[in-house]
Amino acid sequence: MQRVVLEQRLGFVATVTPDGRPNVSPKGTTTVFDDHHLMFADIASPGTIENLASNPNVEINVVDPIVRKGYRFKGSAAVYTTGEMFERALAKLRERGSTTARERIRSIVIVDINDAAAVVSPAYYDGATELDISTRWLRHQTDLHRVPNTGAVFYVVLRRLGPQWIGNQPMELQTGWSEHASFMDALVDSGVVILGGPLADEERVVLVMNAESKEAVRATLARDPWSDTHLVVDSIDEWTIRLDGLS
Ligand SMILES: Cc1cc2nc3c(=O)[nH]c(=O)nc-3n(C[C@H](O)[C@H](O)[C@H](O)COP(=O)(O)O)c2cc1C
Repeated sequence: MQRVVLEQRLGFVATVTPDGRPNVSPKGTTTVFDDHHLMFADIASPGTIENLASNPNVEINVVDPIVRKGYRFKGSAAVYTTGEMFERALAKLRERGSTTARERIRSIVIVDINDAAAVVSPAYYDGATELDISTRWLRHQTDLHRVPNTGAVFYVVLRRLGPQWIGNQPMELQTGWSEHASFMDALVDSGVVILGGPLADEERVVLVMNAESKEAVRATLARDPWSDTHLVVDSIDEWTIRLDGLS
């Protein structure tokens, strides 16, 4: 549960206006405060803060949009503008990479969670696996945000065989081959993987990938069912193409 919150870094926070109307807004600072509390920073959330003054009840939804699973958290919020709780919460944000200037954080909301329930897309009801769903939605999101090739900056990735690779078996007979193959095919279809294949030593594999950053390449490959078991990332390097005989 905490893992999903820490990974997603986005919660949809619902409060209730004084006249009883719902108010939902996204908070990219949503994170774990401790085992019983979530938190987010008020940087531009006057409506939420005003609502909490008359009604501390909150629901926060955190959903992984690729896996289509998440959690609904219900609880009671406290708003801190100074003091020890504010400082501890600010330190958590910093630990998790927030660079928002302190003066832009008007307050920090800490929510005491009294109910947490998993929420799962009905797409799973027909027996689809997590891999089916995530392949589909990764492709959808990648298509939506396809990086144009015109900048011609790519990443060259070297992966090597991992600990679960059975040495004398061909690729197609390794465990989880078909899941790995459909994952890689989806990356090719969506334009993320441009070229790929083994080097002559058959221990290293090269990929040329189109992505926004090294982190994006790493995060994408981490979703490969073979990640760390059959293929381990050795290096990721940015590559500026100056000569192109393919196109
Ligand atoms: C992806 C995303 C993340 C956001 N994260 C935050 C946040 O962490 N804190 C914040 O105060 N506003 C954040 N905002 C802006 C608020 O959601 C926005 O100002 C909203 O209108 C505030 O509504 P409210 O006043 O009803 O709370 C974010 C907006 C987006 C689209």
